Amino acid sequence: MVIGSESWTLSVFRDAHAASESAADSVANTLQNKTDAAITFPTGTTPLAMFDILAARAARGEIDFSGVSIFFLDEFVGATDEDPNSFTRWLTEVLFNRVGIKPDQLHALPVTADDLLASAAKFDEAISACGGLDLAVLGLGPNGHVGYNEPGSGVDSRTRVVTLTPESRDQASAYWEGSLPIPDQAMTMGVGTLLESKQIVLLVTGEAKAGILRRTLEEPITTDVPASLLRIAGPRLTIIVDEAAASELSTAHSS
Ligand code: PGA
Repeated sequence: MVIGSESWTLSVFRDAHAASESAADSVANTLQNKTDAAITFPTGTTPLAMFDILAARAARGEIDFSGVSIFFLDEFVGATDEDPNSFTRWLTEVLFNRVGIKPDQLHALPVTADDLLASAAKFDEAISACGGLDLAVLGLGPNGHVGYNEPGSGVDSRTRVVTLTPESRDQASAYWEGSLPIPDQAMTMGVGTLLESKQIVLLVTGEAKAGILRRTLEEPITTDVPASLLRIAGPRLTIIVDEAAASELSTAHSS
C-alpha cells in the first residue's frame, strides 16, 4: 500500500493466526538469508501466537536459531532475570528456551548498571557493531508506543531510560493479572535505533487495536503516536494485521 510518497507494506489477514504465520515467515526468511542475523522481538500478548508457530517450526527443524543474536527491545529498570516481571525472563521462557537460543546469544538491556546512560549508549554501539538489526519485530501499544517509546518520543531517540505512562503500566500489570509491582521506568531501544533496522515488522491483531492502528497509519506522522514514526522507514516497514485490527482503516485492504 502506498500513501502519498510513503511506501510501506500493509498486509491484512483473516485472523490473528494467519497474521502470526506471516510474521513468523518474516523471521524465517531473515534467518534463511543470514544465519547470524541480529533480531529484536516484542513482549506482549500479541506475539505469543507467533512464538508458538516459531517453536513448532524449530521443533520440526524448519528454522535454525543457532546463529542468531538477540537484542532486547525493552525492560524495566532494575529488573534482573530472576524477577518475575522481567521481560528478559519472559521472552526467554516463551520463545528463546523453546527454539534453542542460548544465553550467550542474548544481549540484555543494561537495566541494573550503575551508569544507565552510558550503558544504554554502549548497547546501541553493540547493535551497530553487529551491522545493525536485520529484523525488528514490534508490537503496537494501546497508546501508540513501540518498545517503550511513549508518546513524545523523538524520531532520533536512542536506547535510553523512559518514564512509563500510567496506561503502559496498567497494560504491563495486566500481563501478571495485577499481582506484580510495575516499575515507573523502563529502558527501551529508541525510535531512531529501530528506524535503522534493515527490516521492521509491526504485528497488530485484535479489535482493541483498531483505533490506534488507524491513528498510526492514517493520520499525519506524529510523535504523539510513536508507532507512526516507523512509516519513515518506507519500504523497510511491513505492517501485518488481522481484519479485526484493520476494521477502522478507511481503505479496504486484503491479502
Ligand atoms: P500487547 O502489547 O501485545 O500486549 O497488546 C503490545 C505492545 O505494547 O507492544
